[in-house]
Amino acid sequence: MSKKYYIETMGCQMNEYDSDHLARIFEDSGYVRAGDPEKADFVLLNTCSVREKAEQKALSRLGRLATLKRKKPRTLLAVAGCVAQQRGVDLLERFPGLDLVLGPREIGNFRKILGRTEKGATRVAAIDSQKTPASFSGGFEYFQRHVKAYLTIMEGCNNFCSYCIVPYVRGRETSRSPRELLDEAKRLTLQGVKEITLLGQNVNSYVHQKMRFPALLAAMSEIKGLYRIRFTTSHPKDLSPELIQCFAHTEKLCSHIHLPFQAGSNRVLKTMRRGYTREKYMDLIGELRKARPGIAVTSDVMVGFPGETEEEFELTLDLIRTIEFDNLFSFKYSDREGTPAARMEGKIPERKKLERLAHLQDLQRKITLKKNRGLINKKVEVLVEGPSKKGLALTGRTTTNKVVNFTCDNEQIGKLIDVTIRRVSFNSLCGELTSLKS
Ligand code: 5AD
Ligand code: SF4
Repeated sequence: MSKKYYIETMGCQMNEYDSDHLARIFEDSGYVRAGDPEKADFVLLNTCSVREKAEQKALSRLGRLATLKRKKPRTLLAVAGCVAQQRGVDLLERFPGLDLVLGPREIGNFRKILGRTEKGATRVAAIDSQKTPASFSGGFEYFQRHVKAYLTIMEGCNNFCSYCIVPYVRGRETSRSPRELLDEAKRLTLQGVKEITLLGQNVNSYVHQKMRFPALLAAMSEIKGLYRIRFTTSHPKDLSPELIQCFAHTEKLCSHIHLPFQAGSNRVLKTMRRGYTREKYMDLIGELRKARPGIAVTSDVMVGFPGETEEEFELTLDLIRTIEFDNLFSFKYSDREGTPAARMEGKIPERKKLERLAHLQDLQRKITLKKNRGLINKKVEVLVEGPSKKGLALTGRTTTNKVVNFTCDNEQIGKLIDVTIRRVSFNSLCGELTSLKS
């Protein structure tokens, strides 16, 4: 009987990409996927440490999986991702059942490491953060029946925003070669993938030899059979006029940008070391909207950064009202050990942070709903992804990245269709099929 692997992924899309890579290595090595950890011979938890809550969640889940291992001692247990990188060998001490700690830059070595653990190596810590990002190969069938896929084009970050752990755990910026990336994108398309999201902590600082991100986008858009391209995450300070122009000229590039602003006050932005002002940020959004009318803009924002006053928080709300984001990911600031912000004075009490977060989320809810309501009785193009969570309908997304549910036959999965929106909620749109396209 084949051995079974189980992977659980927490955190960002880059972790999801890494988990797909690990899954392919398992499958190439003769493993089959298990639906739950109790049935697996190898259990791997891919973790995130960007915020305190994510790290606590990862550690508590690891604790539960370690209990499972006590019941079934022959199961191999591994932790990967940012918590693995950050806590390293300490994790081996804290969790005696743990066999392997695997940092994000070690994923390319996993095939070898898997071989070693199968031969009995335990208590392994592979946490070099300077390695070049892994390249995906083998596992040719893996993406069959996937309509969408991620593709990590660069790893790491050189920005050292004062609150952020990422540069310490994901290492310095390293871009993968365009040839390797285009090969991988073509292989995905051959397997039926229609939409690719290019990933990196800071995709717009992608550079390989002389090739920059806009040129990579142009080359990707030449791939036949690929309908849509997205990218995330971009940094406002590196959003070049050339990249903004891509939205005017590159048809396959979706009408959506995720552009974290983090705070609306220039003083806070400066102590965060973000490298732009609120005025600059608003100008960028203006340029983007000129290049691609109707472009959806989403963002990340934090409340309760050390020293944030009520007036400064008001400036964040004001920026949200002015821009009218399609959606926002909003967070309470949390100390990350080793970052400059963790050592700053003027920490905001938890209660205040919660209050500000609730206020901000309430405002954004109204804006998102208003925008969604504006789509009622409008026709939108949808890439059909598969059955919706609620079962009866199919689901897909608009070019602006909004979730749409509708009914039509399964034949349409992987195709572009037109849907007329009839009902909306905060999270999704609901409509009826108007016409088939591709
Ligand atoms: N506390 C709270 N939120 C954080 N983020 C990054 N670091 C922290 C922190 N220390 C948020 C930022 C970033 C997103 C991925 O997580 O908004 O854009
Ligand atoms: Fe963190 Fe700033 Fe880099 Fe984003 S740009 S990963 S917030 S250091």
